[in-house]
Amino acid sequence: MGTKGKVIKCKAAIAWEANKPLCIEEVEVAPPKAHEVRIQIIATALCHSDAHILHPKFTKALFPVILGHEGAGIVESVGPGVTNCKPGDKVIPLYMPQCKKCKFCLSPLTNFCAKLSQFKDPIIQQEVMEDKTSRFTCKGKPVYHFLGTSTFSQYTVVSDTNLAKIDDDANLERVCLLGCGFSTGYGAAINTAKVTPGSTCAIFGLGGVGLSALIGCKVAGASRIIAVDINSEKFAKAKALGATDCLNPRDLQKPVQEVIIDMTGGGVDFALDCAGGSEAMKAALDCTTVGWGSCTLIGVAIGDKGLTVSPIEILMGRTINGTLFGGCKGRDSIPKLVTDYKNKKFNLDALVTHTLPFDKINEAFDLMHQGKSIRTVLTF
Ligand code: APR
Ligand code: ZN
Repeated sequence: MGTKGKVIKCKAAIAWEANKPLCIEEVEVAPPKAHEVRIQIIATALCHSDAHILHPKFTKALFPVILGHEGAGIVESVGPGVTNCKPGDKVIPLYMPQCKKCKFCLSPLTNFCAKLSQFKDPIIQQEVMEDKTSRFTCKGKPVYHFLGTSTFSQYTVVSDTNLAKIDDDANLERVCLLGCGFSTGYGAAINTAKVTPGSTCAIFGLGGVGLSALIGCKVAGASRIIAVDINSEKFAKAKALGATDCLNPRDLQKPVQEVIIDMTGGGVDFALDCAGGSEAMKAALDCTTVGWGSCTLIGVAIGDKGLTVSPIEILMGRTINGTLFGGCKGRDSIPKLVTDYKNKKFNLDALVTHTLPFDKINEAFDLMHQGKSIRTVLTF
């Protein structure tokens, strides 16, 4: 009886190659080795970064791969040496490890972990386990992990540094969003920008990350929040979550940064880029006030030409900062955010626009590409 120590056959969505729909396949998931945990994924949402990997411009990704990094599940079994969770525990896989031993983990200044610094580009790495092998096979071939999480599988294996144990009564169909989008946006407003009460903020990009940043600005006490998106359909939700003004750069006669500077008598205190392109990043920096304006980069500009900054903009007192995963030290912060959600400090329901069975994962990608969804939660 039981599956401990045995290979589990289950359903997963495989990306066999770039720019192709995912295929639902039967995969074999090997038991966890030392300091690894096998998790039954109960719910997973999709994030734009999963789609970026599939983009043909994005040649660094390795295939075949099981994507997914915004999931929640239940521990099925643990390998030797695992002390931070046990079978039956509810957990959220983390793409940002927290080893709790390195100089970064020991510093309160960052959520970075030395386990990531071995990689040039942490956005796409952790595609094998620490012993350089994969726990997944399909049709006799090894399949790569993704971001150390691979939540597009009914069962996955993660390192014990890459998971947060959460409350037993957590609603996994909602708190899965804490695995990436919500924590990234909300955390960036609270931990990275450090939005202050009474401040004026501008948020560029009103997807799951941007709306979460908006929630963060609101919780931090911002009194004016200007929400910017090139898709005006995003404005109703932004207003419901606390945006005071909404702007579509495509409807304006002059650059959006100039409009924001006029509206605010010189620029905002905090701008947060959650769109992930050089145009929005530049506008976010330009719309901050001289003296103390802070621009926080959150969106990932993949395949983009990046940000050109004129030194004088910085010499005039502006700062640019950025974080991965909203500055959250995952193993410490995510359980607290789960409790905050339970205590209704913020609402995740507004971010979940669709819930679909896992087999409809390609429909969920279509909804994302069409800008129709904020987050689609897939359930097994
Ligand atoms: N100005 C304003 N808004 C923009 C712009 C722009 N130049 N370009 C795109 N947007 C808007 C889109 O219309 C969309 O509403 O940004 C939003 C991005 O939302 P999603 O695609 O849902 O992405 P999300 O999951 O929120 O992630 C935000 O962070 O991790 C990265 O790669 C991810 O770039 C993405 C960003
Ligand atoms: Zn560390």
